[in-house]
Amino acid sequence: MRILFIGDIVGSIGRDQLQHYLPKLKQKFQPQLTIVNGENAAAGKGITEKIYKQFLEWGVDFITMGNHTFDKKEIFDFIEGAKKIIRPANFPAGTPGMGNAYVNVNGTEIAILNLQGRTFMPAIDDPFQLADQLLEQVSKRTHIIFVDFHAEASSEKLALAWYLDGRISALVGTHTHVQTADNRILDHGTAYITDVGMTGPYDGIIGTDRQAVIKKFKTQLPVRFEVVREGKAQLSAVIIDIDNKTGKAERIERLLINDDHPFFA
Ligand SMILES: [Fe+2]
Ligand SMILES: [Fe+2]
Repeated sequence: MRILFIGDIVGSIGRDQLQHYLPKLKQKFQPQLTIVNGENAAAGKGITEKIYKQFLEWGVDFITMGNHTFDKKEIFDFIEGAKKIIRPANFPAGTPGMGNAYVNVNGTEIAILNLQGRTFMPAIDDPFQLADQLLEQVSKRTHIIFVDFHAEASSEKLALAWYLDGRISALVGTHTHVQTADNRILDHGTAYITDVGMTGPYDGIIGTDRQAVIKKFKTQLPVRFEVVREGKAQLSAVIIDIDNKTGKAERIERLLINDDHPFFA
């Protein structure tokens, strides 16, 4: 089983990157399942129904989310019917949407989970305890389990990965928008990377207009953050190979495409 996971799609530049590169990446790597994080797809904040449908048309199988899940008000009108959107499972009980999903790929069932961290982030339910509870049910159905852990602190991501090592096939970090170079397979077969990185503007500051962010740091005054809408672009992703029989990961490769790291088909 080969999974292509593309990190946070940010704004129109990110969506253009996805549309442009997805066919090329599929041709080169032949993944059986393509998952993207879409929490910043609509101008950096949330996702719209139109974008959701576009992503599926372009060949995305599932969309994971994060702290920006509910930034666009219209999400409440379509998330319950959007069977390919997975939002963090540890949002309080009763939150619209679903925290995990199953997909059958050529007779093999895969579970996809989305969890969100709590360190330097809004206070939500404990992802560690919720992972225990979820995995108790999920592992009765399949041992191929993919987790997008949307979190700020490297330590929290590494901690959850080691805690779940051997119980899940892969844990990839999202949210910081900066790719880390620590992709590896943990001792008991869980593929891991602290952050996949983002897909969108290359010259902003994690996708946002530079001047606004610098002003914020210099003055600490309220500043309006705008997503970068033109200029250089990047795409960040990982390719994960999983042994269908054991559910253990065999390989996790990083992929970074930008002006400094060109793509070779
Ligand atoms: Fe993000
Ligand atoms: Fe985020």
